[in-house]
Amino acid sequence: MTDDQRKKLKEILDNPPIATADDIRFSKPTDRGCVYLHGKGELEFLLSNIRKPPMIDNLWIVEIGTGKAGTTTQMAAYSALNGYGLKVMTCSVDHRPEIDKELALVKDYVNVIYYNTPNRDVWHRWQIDFPGAKIWFLFLDGSHNYAHVCNDLWAAKPYLISDARIAVHDTQIDTEYGQAETRAMEDFCAWNKRDFELMDKILETTRVIRRK
Ligand SMILES: C[S@@+](CC[C@H](N)C(=O)[O-])C[C@H]1O[C@@H](n2cnc3c(N)ncnc32)[C@H](O)[C@@H]1O
Repeated sequence: MTDDQRKKLKEILDNPPIATADDIRFSKPTDRGCVYLHGKGELEFLLSNIRKPPMIDNLWIVEIGTGKAGTTTQMAAYSALNGYGLKVMTCSVDHRPEIDKELALVKDYVNVIYYNTPNRDVWHRWQIDFPGAKIWFLFLDGSHNYAHVCNDLWAAKPYLISDARIAVHDTQIDTEYGQAETRAMEDFCAWNKRDFELMDKILETTRVIRRK
């Protein structure tokens, strides 16, 4: 990578999209709104969970809930800047115009695929398009309810490699959706305790599972 390319990626990471006052006022994570991450600290926490992957082909960052592709672009730029070589898949039910603009910023450096598809269908489509694809980092920020988080955890399970991480957003325990998401994570880890564990280091708003 040239110095100029590194500079461009660093610029993306130094300027993450911040939620506008309207985003915060009119959006709830439980609807089709799009509240961006709760701050720069949370973004750093998210990115710190990506880490250097093992040398495996066809290894991916997967995001459910593209929003305006703010987190997608940050994760893609972080992976590219660190030379991790991960591909990125993201999906959402609403195709916002900002998505194409955001993803264009990283398309020269990372293979990023966007599906305008609900979570229940995206797993099949992704595997048909990229047979044998595996996951190193999964970020769930789509539909914030128990059934959908469970569905995504079980659907992703066959593709998560050892030491892969799953971050779930908006898990704050003083909200109904936060409690539902946390319960889905706890139940999934209880059912799969030989393979998955909840990590101790969390933010109030983001909890992480690790594949053992
Ligand atoms: C809170 S936003 C995501 C914000 C984004 N991660 C960011 O930080 O920029 C939630 C997104 O999830 C998507 N979504 C909601 N329900 C979904 C579902 N069942 N399947 C896929 N995406 C869904 C919405 O379309 C919306 O784009």
